[in-house]
Amino acid sequence: MQTADRLTKIPPYLFMTLRNKINDAKAKGIDVISLAIGDPVDPTPQPIIDALCAAAQDPENHRYPTDEEWGMLAFREAVARWYDRRYNVTLNPSNEVVALIGSKEGCHHFAMGVINPGDTVLVTDPGYPGYKPSIWFCGAEPYAVAMKDENNFLPDFSEIPTDVAKKASAFFLNYPNNPTGAVATPGFLADLVAFAKDNDIVVCYDNPYSEVVFGVDRLSFLNTPGAKDVGVELNSLSKPYNMTGWRIGMAVGNPEIIKAIATSKANTDSGVFNAVQYAGIEALDNGDADVARMLGVYAQRRDKVIATLRELGWTYDPPKGAFYLWVPAPKGYSSAEFCDFMLEKCAVVIAPGAAYGVNGEGFVRFSLTIDDDRLDEALKRMRENLPKLEF
Ligand SMILES: Cc1ncc(COP(=O)(O)O)c(C=O)c1O
Repeated sequence: MQTADRLTKIPPYLFMTLRNKINDAKAKGIDVISLAIGDPVDPTPQPIIDALCAAAQDPENHRYPTDEEWGMLAFREAVARWYDRRYNVTLNPSNEVVALIGSKEGCHHFAMGVINPGDTVLVTDPGYPGYKPSIWFCGAEPYAVAMKDENNFLPDFSEIPTDVAKKASAFFLNYPNNPTGAVATPGFLADLVAFAKDNDIVVCYDNPYSEVVFGVDRLSFLNTPGAKDVGVELNSLSKPYNMTGWRIGMAVGNPEIIKAIATSKANTDSGVFNAVQYAGIEALDNGDADVARMLGVYAQRRDKVIATLRELGWTYDPPKGAFYLWVPAPKGYSSAEFCDFMLEKCAVVIAPGAAYGVNGEGFVRFSLTIDDDRLDEALKRMRENLPKLEF
């Protein structure tokens, strides 16, 4: 039986490997606590669930989604209102917004709509593991742009060789960043737009954590003058509204690229269930207070984890964005070895930095998307079972 050669390029999905480790430990009767995955356990706010239930009662919504490849105009208008209110960004709902089945889906359709076989495509390293498979599926090759601690985990454009920059057709970036928690600055985004213009590169600015920031302003790529000329932003309701399972997001920005994404979608899926889009409208229009409440919850969890890490010998400053802590692995351990040590000593699962790219080696990632009781238990186990660590 033949399967496609393109699949052979894809390493095992990080979270499948982690899930297997968790399942193996559970099968041995061990009570494993996972701080590895960025999937909020807190429930979706009730008004959003109510909006879904009401819309699901209407047989009109049981049919194929309205305006399949673009999403309902009412949803796209809600996206435009949200961007205007939260980011001071003006969008035309008729040609600058397309509904997505999550930002992960958007990454794939961006690749399908923009990248040609043989292209070079820039990706940050460490970075979200979802980008490279889509690049490979298009017959192109990713080029890893290092993100370093000393540069606040922002890429240094001057380190990208000129011939690579000239050859590259697209660039995937994501701030607030998974896995590092780093945030972009307006100055960095201005440099990004200039770099993209100089080298004729299309930017895919993947921004699903745009709402999850601490002590800094929310930032859209489209806040930057000229950004709409060079790219699109992907966003999602998954993280701010605890809606990862609902599968709804949006691509916004350059109309030509938005159309390319919509064309790829039109020939792949039939869009987002209308009732989920109605629930999305409720979230975008009326969910600001829920987002603020969740930021408070994450800040509390973050502070608890940092207090424990400091007790154990880490020195670490709180991240400004996303709900991850990206901390150095202790001396003497690779990132994977330290994750195994944590599992063995504490039955706590964290994510190895190397899974996010070669520049992720030397770091591990803690996620704050866990019940407070379970987090307290995980931290107690770490305090009781880990030796004093050296860095
Ligand atoms: C950087 C980044 N992009 C995209 C996604 C996928 O988000 P969605 O649920 O909107 O598909 C994630 C999820 O963890 C992510 O971290």
